[in-house]
Amino acid sequence: MNTVQPGILSEETPLARYLVFTLEPGSNPAPVLQAFGDAIEGEKTVVGLGKSLTMALGKNIDGLETFPVLAGPGFSVPATQAELWLWLRGEDRGELLHRTRDLTQILADAFAPIQVIDAFQYRGNHDLSGYEDGTENPGGDDAIKAAIVSDRGPGLDGSSFVAVQQWVHDLDRFQAMPESEQDNTIGRRIRDNEEIDDAPESAHVKRTAQESFEPEAFVLRRSMPWADNIQAGLVFVAFGHSFEAFEAQMRRMVGEDDGIVDALFNFTRPVTGGYFWCPPMKAGKLDLSALGL
Ligand code: HEM
Repeated sequence: MNTVQPGILSEETPLARYLVFTLEPGSNPAPVLQAFGDAIEGEKTVVGLGKSLTMALGKNIDGLETFPVLAGPGFSVPATQAELWLWLRGEDRGELLHRTRDLTQILADAFAPIQVIDAFQYRGNHDLSGYEDGTENPGGDDAIKAAIVSDRGPGLDGSSFVAVQQWVHDLDRFQAMPESEQDNTIGRRIRDNEEIDDAPESAHVKRTAQESFEPEAFVLRRSMPWADNIQAGLVFVAFGHSFEAFEAQMRRMVGEDDGIVDALFNFTRPVTGGYFWCPPMKAGKLDLSALGL
C-alpha cells in the first residue's frame, strides 16, 4: 500500500532548506537513488525527481514534464530545470546543515549540489511583503484531492507533482507603494487579510482564483520566505496531482489568457523554475518501483 511523503501534507516547520542537485556526467543514478530512498526519514525530507533523471533511468513518468519558459511584457519566467530537488524541514539550522551534509554524502557518487536556499517562516505563514500566504489553500481531504495522485496504480498513487520557483522581491519598491496600492497588488487587505471584491483584475488573487478556472485549478501551496545578505523573497512551492493547475495559473499571471499581467510582477520576479515528481512511500521508504528500482 502506497502512502504520500508525509512532509507534503504536514504543518510547515519554522525553518527549511531547499536543495537542488544535478546528475554528474557518466554517473549511474540507480544504486545511489536506491540507497537514498531507504535513508529518507518521514516528515523531515520531501524528495522530487526531474524528468531528465527519469530519462537517465530509461523510464517515463506520465505527466512529468520540464518547466516551461514563459514571458510577459518586460520580464521572463525562467526555467532552471534540474534532476533532483529536496525540501529539508526542521527547526534547528545546525541540524539542517548536518542533514544537508549527510544526504549530500549519500548522493555524492552520482549527484552534485547546485543550489541551497535557507528558508524560514515569517510571522507564521506571511510573505515578506507582509501579506498572509496560504489563506485559500485547500485543507484536509481537499488538500489530498488537489495534491496527490490517485487511481493510477501502485508506484504512482500517493505521488505528487511539485512546481518550485525562487522569487526575488524588490521590497524597497513594494514598501514605497501606498497601502491601497499594495492591497490592490495582492487583492487582499494587509490590515485584516479580507479579500477586496472590487480589486483590479491584475490583483494576484483575482489572477489565480482557483475556482475561476475551467476546470477548477486547485494546488497545495507550501511556499516559504528566504533571504541572504543582499536579497530576499519567496520560494514558491505548489503540489498538484498534475502540473495543469499550476501551469494554468502561471500562464494567466503572465497575461496569456487576456493580456492582463499579475500586479505581483511590479515588485517581484522569479529567478528559477523546476518541475519534479515526488514518488510515494511504501513501508517507510521511497517507492521507486515506477522507475524500475
Ligand atoms: C512572489 C510570489 C508570490 C507571492 C508573494 C504570493 C502571495 C500570495 C498571497 C499573499 C495570496 C493571498 C492569500 C492566499 O490565499 O494564500 C496568494 C494567493 C494565491 N496564490 Fe500566490 N503568491 C506568489 C506566487 C504565486 C504563483 C507563482 C502562483 C501560481 C502560479 C500562485 C498561486 C496562488 C493561488 C492559487 C492563490 C489562492 C487564490 C485563490 O483561490 O483565492 N502564487 N498568493
